[in-house]
Amino acid sequence: MTEIVRLPDAEAVAREAARRWIEIARQAVEARGAFRIALSGGETPRLLYRLMASEPWRDQAPWAETHVFWCDERRVPPSDPRSNYRMARETLLDHVPIPSEQVYRMQGGGLISSATSDYEEKLRRHFRLGRGEWPRFDLILLGMGTDGHTASIFPGTRAVSDLSHMVLVYEVPQLGVERMTLTLPVINNARHILFLVVGEEKAETLAAVLEGDYRPSTYPAQAARPVDGTLTWLVDEAAASRLTAN
Ligand code: 6PG
Repeated sequence: MTEIVRLPDAEAVAREAARRWIEIARQAVEARGAFRIALSGGETPRLLYRLMASEPWRDQAPWAETHVFWCDERRVPPSDPRSNYRMARETLLDHVPIPSEQVYRMQGGGLISSATSDYEEKLRRHFRLGRGEWPRFDLILLGMGTDGHTASIFPGTRAVSDLSHMVLVYEVPQLGVERMTLTLPVINNARHILFLVVGEEKAETLAAVLEGDYRPSTYPAQAARPVDGTLTWLVDEAAASRLTAN
């Protein structure tokens, strides 16, 4: 089932996301002793990461049991201002008591094949995966671009149809740059998927994604649908302004 939660503004979206993050994290720790999350980059989650690094949220999250992965990364070193890892480190990870060995960075600057196998190896080891098994994240945080991409799964690319890898590095033709991304089978194996979408510039695409025909190659965000988990869209009024359903 898809839950769409409309909130007044970006600040309210971040607060609701923080509340859900903490709730899911606590449940995961209680049930399995650990909380595994995959973060996204872009502008929208900055506010959320800053909230999670500040009181009262900071003290409520189980950092000692939290394991942080990424949904996607740019092909840049971790010091580059475009790095998703750097953004999360500066806004969140540097300010919370998370053990450094529980932060699993995608090697954006590495060679294609070694960066992919490095991350697959990290996933395999952490989730103790056997042959044919997929990682099961407790929470995957996603955003959506105005073109309908999510993570670094861009319209019309092989990332939309790749069902055999866990991690993909490929050149995104519309950007002319390489991106690394978790694939849809990993995303869709999560217990909870949370989309954060704000801003009027996303309104038209959001309406097409949530209320239009199912065309995942055109709107990859439509393909993020957990096999056995919850799917929640936290959207602000500006982004929701073209939705017909309330
Ligand atoms: C990234 C992302 C990407 C992002 C969307 C939305 O690294 O850029 O993971 O999928 O979530 O592009 O980005 P904004 O929040 O900046 O609109």
